[in-house]
Amino acid sequence: MVKKCLFPVAGYGTRFLPATKSMPKEMLPVVNKPLVQYGVEEAMGAGMTNCAFVTGRGKRAIADHFDVSYELEHQIAGSSKEPLLDSIRAVIDQGTFTMVRQREMLGLGHAILTGEALIGPEPFGVVLSDDLCINPDGPGVLSQMLDLFEQFRCSVVAVQEVPMDEIHKYGVISGECIQEGLYRVESMVEKPTAGNAPSNLAIIGRYILTPDIFDIIRTTKPGANGEVQITDALQIQAQKGGVIAYKFEGQRFDCGSVPGFVEATNFVFDNFYVKDS
Ligand code: G1P
Repeated sequence: MVKKCLFPVAGYGTRFLPATKSMPKEMLPVVNKPLVQYGVEEAMGAGMTNCAFVTGRGKRAIADHFDVSYELEHQIAGSSKEPLLDSIRAVIDQGTFTMVRQREMLGLGHAILTGEALIGPEPFGVVLSDDLCINPDGPGVLSQMLDLFEQFRCSVVAVQEVPMDEIHKYGVISGECIQEGLYRVESMVEKPTAGNAPSNLAIIGRYILTPDIFDIIRTTKPGANGEVQITDALQIQAQKGGVIAYKFEGQRFDCGSVPGFVEATNFVFDNFYVKDS
């Protein structure tokens, strides 16, 4: 029912300079797989096989990653290294990949609106690949959210409790708890101070959005940091009861920060990497 997933990947990745000077931050490998591929695999696990990227200048490596490399295929065919391509081949075979460029960095809301041309009038997922989400014992976070979308038929955001001294980094929700780990959102604030935060429930980078969000974003004024914020647009939906927040099952790593990235790397290496014998 939700077939498309939007990946805003135009950001600069300044926290990882100089590594990200000429290379997209989304291509940084967590062990041996680029961050963005984890997000794409999670979306495909939820049946969202149509991946739409909102890219920018200097991001061509992402388009190349989700396309066949004939030279490489030719070189590696029949060799012992060939299985290393299995995961990306599977992704490429299952999906379609479309791109549009965000010409100016005017915020996440603006990036999502730029993706409208690729999405059209249907509900869609959004993955911020900086947030790496792993649920080793069950379905991925987007799959969990899709079940809720099918039940509630409104926008769904993933949330996590965070310490109050980190709350200013996030969009924050408050709402009525309607069942364990599930909230009908009443208000949302982007990057509040600890004193202004309505709760300790921070939005993390997974959304399922209903397509009316595009018209709402069109009329959303710049907010926190002078940027058009998706949180502000969602607040309009929330006022009509149209947003559910969900405390997901699984672990989330903030790979937009160096410590979070290192933590993710250690976790994936210890739990998933098949070491050579
Ligand atoms: C974005 C969103 C914010 C959300 C966060 C999750 O912020 O605007 O609401 O909490 O992602 O990672 P950014 O990290 O781009 O500043």
